[in-house]
Amino acid sequence: MKIAIFNGSPRKQNTFALAQAFKEGAESAGHEAEIYNVGQMKIAGCLGCEYCHTKGEGNCVQKDDLEQILPAYKEADVIVFASPVYYFTMTAQMEAAIQRVYCIGKPLKAKKAVLLLSSGSDGVYEAAVAQFKAYMGYAGIEAAGIITAHGEENKSQAKLDEIKEFAKTL
Ligand SMILES: Cc1cc2nc3c(=O)[nH]c(=O)nc-3n(C[C@H](O)[C@H](O)[C@H](O)COP(=O)(O)O)c2cc1C
Repeated sequence: MKIAIFNGSPRKQNTFALAQAFKEGAESAGHEAEIYNVGQMKIAGCLGCEYCHTKGEGNCVQKDDLEQILPAYKEADVIVFASPVYYFTMTAQMEAAIQRVYCIGKPLKAKKAVLLLSSGSDGVYEAAVAQFKAYMGYAGIEAAGIITAHGEENKSQAKLDEIKEFAKTL
């Protein structure tokens, strides 16, 4: 299967380590997995202009780094959203990327999605988890797993192993 892992962090640190563990686990099970560091890309927010659904025929009027992730979003069998928690939700960069995918409507092939969240504290995941479940419900994609890491759990071998093992089960 093709697995697209979107890392919403602007840094290659805690969330990137979770994303890498997922990639390693998925690849060891024979899947093709790629990390897209959307947090380091320049992806503006959706303008709501509806160009994509009228004259644009699915293409966005804004030309930016969205073009680097759209093919993966369209073709992935599994989509992994990995993000640090910023004020109880995913990063603005990740939210912008998700909202700009409006131009293609729902992901075309994906049957499963996974949410990986990194945070400083425990108990800060409610909003991001609710959004993930609602969005996947709307898109008709199974919310196949949610794994969180807070504080010392980030980069801990136990957490990375948990993610690797989970990725092998897809
Ligand atoms: C702008 C900002 C907002 C944050 N908000 C929260 C928060 O609401 N709750 C929390 O537990 N941690 C919060 N954090 C901490 C990060 O979620 C945490 O350090 C995370 O592991 C960073 O992941 P990264 O290394 O991939 O960037 C925040 C950090 C930043 C920079």
